[in-house]
This record gives sequence, structure tokens and C-alpha cells, in this order.
Amino acid sequence: MLKVGLLTSGGDCQGLNAAIRGVGKTLNTQCKKVEIYGFRYGYKGLAQGDFYLLKPQDFSGILTTGGTILGTSRFPFKQLDMPHPQYPSYLKAMIQTYKSLQLDALVILGGNGTHKTAHALSNAGLNIVTLPKTIDNDLWGTDMTFGFQSAVAVATKVIDDIHSTAESHGRVFIVEVMGHKVGWLPLTAGIAGGADIILIPEIPYRLEAICDVIKHRSKRQKPFSIIAMAEGAKSVEEAQMSKKEYKKYLEKQGDPAKAYQLARQLSPLIEQEVRVAVPGHAQRGGSPVPSDRILATRCGVQAAHLILKGQFGVMVGTKGDTLIEIPLSEVAGKTKAVPLDADLIHTARSLGLSLGE
Ligand code: F6P
Repeated sequence: MLKVGLLTSGGDCQGLNAAIRGVGKTLNTQCKKVEIYGFRYGYKGLAQGDFYLLKPQDFSGILTTGGTILGTSRFPFKQLDMPHPQYPSYLKAMIQTYKSLQLDALVILGGNGTHKTAHALSNAGLNIVTLPKTIDNDLWGTDMTFGFQSAVAVATKVIDDIHSTAESHGRVFIVEVMGHKVGWLPLTAGIAGGADIILIPEIPYRLEAICDVIKHRSKRQKPFSIIAMAEGAKSVEEAQMSKKEYKKYLEKQGDPAKAYQLARQLSPLIEQEVRVAVPGHAQRGGSPVPSDRILATRCGVQAAHLILKGQFGVMVGTKGDTLIEIPLSEVAGKTKAVPLDADLIHTARSLGLSLGE
């Protein structure tokens, strides 16, 4: 009897259920005797022994659904060594659940934070295979994560829809796109949606540069402008602050989202009215786009095959169109930021798009 555990951890995204389905259907098809256990709400479920047996029908009808049938939660890596109500630490509690269930493998679907814990569990001797999910596409070692293309579609649609109203009123719109530390999503959606200015965390912006673009467009009979701004974009001055200073500074400003701060700063400097649109968590919701369904399914299927082969301690990822396995030791603790020489940066600049520099 093969016994496999499954959990989803961190922020949800589109394609999680498609990946779960890929693992479950493959194991049920390729293996005569298999039991698959789902842990509720990510590492919490593993630490609390909160699981249930997933039946073959649980993997049906979920290809197109958003969210995760298992539930998810964020588990801070530093909590791993903290005392658990019944065990010396959360790590020990997780190991205990795995052992008492006599699992042969555990499949973990997650992003950056999730991979640090997955690596620690692997180092503790658990058979771990991970799958790359996040709308941010910032996981080290893989070209693509599932969830990203769906989030790009949502954010692009918002920018598309804002165009007509911005144009009718001759207004400046700031569309705040998710991405605290990295700008793959705002950069991609900004280019896809034809934004005039794209602000990402990797490139600190100057207010004057933004004003110049807006004024220059006005002179060319384009009174409206659209700014695609990452939620974690910072001005040159802000980028020089320490983490602590910046946190305090943001608290003092009291804006519900970063785009409102930029709107306040921009308004007195330009003639146009400024408006803000924040799609927020809608970017993580709804049905996955076909390319995410395919990627998530391929990753799930591959995870099942790795388990059947007995290959553990790896994340399934992509290099171009090919699936690859990357050791967890290479993935954990790293972030894939947008390189300043990225093709998308070159594309944006070549088009005359401003990156706020
Ligand atoms: O990591 C995914 C993500 O959606 C980020 O883009 C965003 O900054 C963050 O999660 C939001 O986190 P939460 O769902 O905890 O508000």
C-alpha cells in the first residue's frame, strides 16, 4: 500500500485544484493500492494531525475551480522551531503526523515561504515533492509557476477596462497590481494591457519622471495615462529606507494601498484628476486560464511519477516548455526577482514605456 499526503500552503492561486487532481488521478490510475490523505489548511493540518482520506471522486470536477479543496494558510518559517502544545516543536509535530500515518511521501504545493519549511521537512528525513504555485512567479529554479498566467489575465483585463473610462474623462489611473517584492505580474500585465507607466519593486521610481510622461502625453493630445503599479513599488527615496523605517513611514501615511499614496503625491503636480483601481485578491481568484490548467496538471502528474520512482527532495519546475526537478536545497530561501536585463524590461523600454526611472 502506497500512502501519500497532500497539502497546499501559503496564499492560494488558480491551478491548485488542477495540480491536486493531477497527483490524485495519476496515483489512482498508476498504482493498484494507494491511500491519499489531504491535510487541511496547509502546514497547520500537518502539525495538528488534521487530515482526511481523499477518495478518487474527490479528484473529479475540480480542474476548473479556483482556490484549493484542501484549504490553505500561511505558516511562518520561524514557527517551525517554536513549542507546539503537544510536542517540543512544530517541526517535531509535523514529523510525528507523517510517521504515525506511515506516509511514503508528502506532496506540498506552495510558493517561497512554503519551500523553506518543505526543505526543513526534507532534511528531517521526510519524502517530499513540491509543486510551484504562486501568482508572483518569483520561485527560484523554475521559469514558470502556476497561478501566474491566470493572475496576468485578471490584471490585464482590469487595465484593459480602465482604458476606456480613463480616455473618456482624460484622467490618470493608477492600477495597483499584486507583487510586494517582485514585479513579474505588474510588468507582464502592464505590457499586455498597454499601460503607459509600469512601476515595479526592482526599479525605484521618481515622481518627476512619472509627471514628465503624463505631461508629455498631454502635449501629444493624450490627456489620459495609465500607471500599472506593483503594490511593493517604491520611490528612490523610499528604497533607501531600512525595512523598519519604511514600515513606520507607511503606517504614518495610513493609505489602504500604496497606489493611494502615489495618487496623493501626483495630484497637485499634474492637471488631470487621478483615480485608483485596486483589483487585489481578485487576481488570485476564479478559474485558472487554460495554460495554468495545463501547467498545474503536468506538475501534478510529474509529482506522482516521481513518488512512484522514489525520487524525493525536489520541486517540479519548468525550463522553457520542459518539466524539470530542482533540489529543494537550491529553491529554499531564494527569490526570483525581475533581472534588470530581463527581456520584458527591454521590451517595455523599446516600446517607449516608462518604468518611472
Ligand atoms: O504571494 C501571493 C500574494 O498574492 C502576493 O502577490 C501578495 O503580496 C500577497 O500574496 C498578499 O497576501 P495575503 O493574501 O496574505 O493578503
